[in-house]
Amino acid sequence: MPLVFTLLCLCVLKMGGFSASVTQATVQSDIQCHDWGVWSEGSVRVYEGEVAYLYCPLFCHPTLYSYSQIQNSSLSLLWYRHTHTHELEQPINLKLHTLHKDREYLWIQPASAQDAGLYICMLRNISSCVKIGVELKVVQKDGECDLKAQPHLNLTIPFHSKRTLTCPDLNKLTLPNSTHSVSWYHFCNSHLFGNGRELEGDDLVIYSMKGVYRGLYTCVVSYQMNGRMLQFTRNINVIVVVPDAGSKVPIILNPASDQIYMVTLGDTVTLSCHVILPHLYEEKQHIWWTIDKKTVEELADPRFSSPEATLASYKDGDEWKERVLNVMDFSADDLQREFNCSARNSRGFNTSRAVLKAELYFPTLELSCGLGVTLALMLMMFVIYHVFWLELLLLYRSWFGSDERYTDDKQYDVYISYARNSEEEEFVLSTLRRVLESEFGYSVCIFDRDSLPGGNLMESVLRCMQACRRLLVVLSSDCLCEKSLGLLECRLCLYLHHAARVPVITVRRRAFSAPCGDIAQLRNNSISIRWHDARSERTNSRFWKLLRLALPLRPLALGKRLIDSTSSHSDLASVATRYTHAQTVSLSRRSKGGRGGVRHQGVRDRSGRGCEQKG
Ligand SMILES: *[C@@H]1O[C@H](CO)[C@@H](O)[C@H](O)[C@H]1NC(C)=O
Ligand SMILES: *[C@@H]1O[C@H](CO)[C@@H](O)[C@H](O)[C@H]1NC(C)=O
Ligand SMILES: *[C@@H]1O[C@H](CO)[C@@H](O)[C@H](O)[C@H]1NC(C)=O
Ligand SMILES: *[C@@H]1O[C@H](CO)[C@@H](O)[C@H](O)[C@H]1NC(C)=O
Ligand SMILES: *[C@@H]1O[C@H](CO)[C@@H](O)[C@H](O)[C@H]1NC(C)=O
Ligand SMILES: *[C@@H]1O[C@H](CO)[C@@H](O)[C@H](O)[C@H]1NC(C)=O
Repeated sequence: MPLVFTLLCLCVLKMGGFSASVTQATVQSDIQCHDWGVWSEGSVRVYEGEVAYLYCPLFCHPTLYSYSQIQNSSLSLLWYRHTHTHELEQPINLKLHTLHKDREYLWIQPASAQDAGLYICMLRNISSCVKIGVELKVVQKDGECDLKAQPHLNLTIPFHSKRTLTCPDLNKLTLPNSTHSVSWYHFCNSHLFGNGRELEGDDLVIYSMKGVYRGLYTCVVSYQMNGRMLQFTRNINVIVVVPDAGSKVPIILNPASDQIYMVTLGDTVTLSCHVILPHLYEEKQHIWWTIDKKTVEELADPRFSSPEATLASYKDGDEWKERVLNVMDFSADDLQREFNCSARNSRGFNTSRAVLKAELYFPTLELSCGLGVTLALMLMMFVIYHVFWLELLLLYRSWFGSDERYTDDKQYDVYISYARNSEEEEFVLSTLRRVLESEFGYSVCIFDRDSLPGGNLMESVLRCMQACRRLLVVLSSDCLCEKSLGLLECRLCLYLHHAARVPVITVRRRAFSAPCGDIAQLRNNSISIRWHDARSERTNSRFWKLLRLALPLRPLALGKRLIDSTSSHSDLASVATRYTHAQTVSLSRRSKGGRGGVRHQGVRDRSGRGCEQKG
């Protein structure tokens, strides 16, 4: 008894198809029945209405059980059925006329949909019992002939060879003669035979195999039993292969002798090997990579890996297969190694070396990224410069420029010349001068205000101008009328510009239709800044920035610290009180005289900072 179980185990291991033992179900309570579960490989598919036969899988291994031995022993073969409606297996009712037990087979003639399910074949005597299950599937036949049918048999036939096709399972019919017939179909067509393929009795004979003869063959066996017509269908898949002639040694396509594999140092390198494995019956052919005569398994280095070969192409039994070798972190040392792809079958062996060459690493991505960033930065700086060039210049000057007050002995930053009419005066006094003095901290010289009375007018003006670092002319159409103070100032500006290189700034309030004579000359020799009325009023406008650039360097913080920037135009007096004491006096005096009518009154501050003192 233990011996039998050991043998059974061996049989099962060899068959390899049994599913795990499910239950130790007992049919008869007195003895335990050894359950081998269900043999999934042996499951039977049958068309509804056709004959099915089940083979007891216990006889799959003749050395363990053979039916002839069973016949002489005390063991008996029984069939049970496992239905979903009953917990336990039910014995097969062999009295039913559709069921027929014949040696190790159970015939169902014919099978209906209700017959589908699990069948259990059991061998037992009074002391021992063993059982195994097999599945019966009943499927509907798709029409008269099923083109998509799963084949019951794969048949390999070489080109030009003769082969007789016999309908499978026909020999299992143990019936009186001549009561059966066999019909053959190729792709469901029965009218193809006669030329090269002949029907001989129950068989189909192919005299010389051709490519067009491949594909699905169907045979239908019909017979009469107990007055009933019965039939079963078998499908055969015919595969044509190249004949076993000539060299059948594997052919290595890649690596070819003249092929060079380019590798990138530091990268993962993939070497690919293509091999033609010629058709050989039932033979496993091998492809593998070696690194310095060692296989990947022998090397056991995690940097090397080689997945199983994949089928790239197939023709008439010959297979084109690819196997790759992956090398991670390919190093310069690896270049010296011998990488061979080899293939072997029973007919021979081929090997080929992969010739490697290092490719210079060119960091395309990094380079283009760097270039892109540089270009973007340049574009950004270009845009920034064009939008903020004034600010940048002012900033640059505030960092690197020098304060002219420490290098010259001039008293004022700027002399303002303008036409003496009320409109210009308003602009100069309440806008130009106010902002320059209180917002930006410049010292401004206005002749009417800052000169001493008496003396030669021209000399006084010249002396005043000489005490200034810049000369600013507010251009207007009135400015150059005959014998005005403005005209005198303009000419002296030009004179000083040419003689003493004093920079001249012109402020235009409106366009001149035809600048003539002195105006044209002034404009050509000066930094010209345009006043755009409302747009220029804010102290951070372009006008003021340009003006500050033209004027000597003065830290902005000075003006901001001294002056409350919220002061309005009319607030001149209060602004002035917070500025300098000296100018307070001069301003308050000037205010008394009225704004429009101020002329050369010889106003002089008490601290004695009149322009004549120095001149
Ligand atoms: C079975 O028994 C018969 C007669 O007793 C004998 O002729 C036959 O050889 C036996 N078969 C086996 C397999 O032992
Ligand atoms: C029952 O069968 C087993 C093995 O199949 C055998 O060893 C045993 O002797 C048999 N028992 C009887 C009573 O025949
Ligand atoms: C026939 O070959 C096909 C494809 O190779 C396979 O899937 C099928 O299981 C084979 N059928 C039989 C009965 O061997
Ligand atoms: C069965 O066929 C064989 C040969 O085909 C023949 O010898 C035998 O007599 C036939 N038997 C019956 C019952 O027809
Ligand atoms: C493989 O071996 C065969 C026969 O030995 C030979 O004809 C063929 O050229 C070889 N191919 C390669 C790639 O080595
Ligand atoms: C590698 O292949 C070459 C032919 O390409 C061969 O000469 C050499 O002997 C092979 N090396 C090994 C280890 O098989």
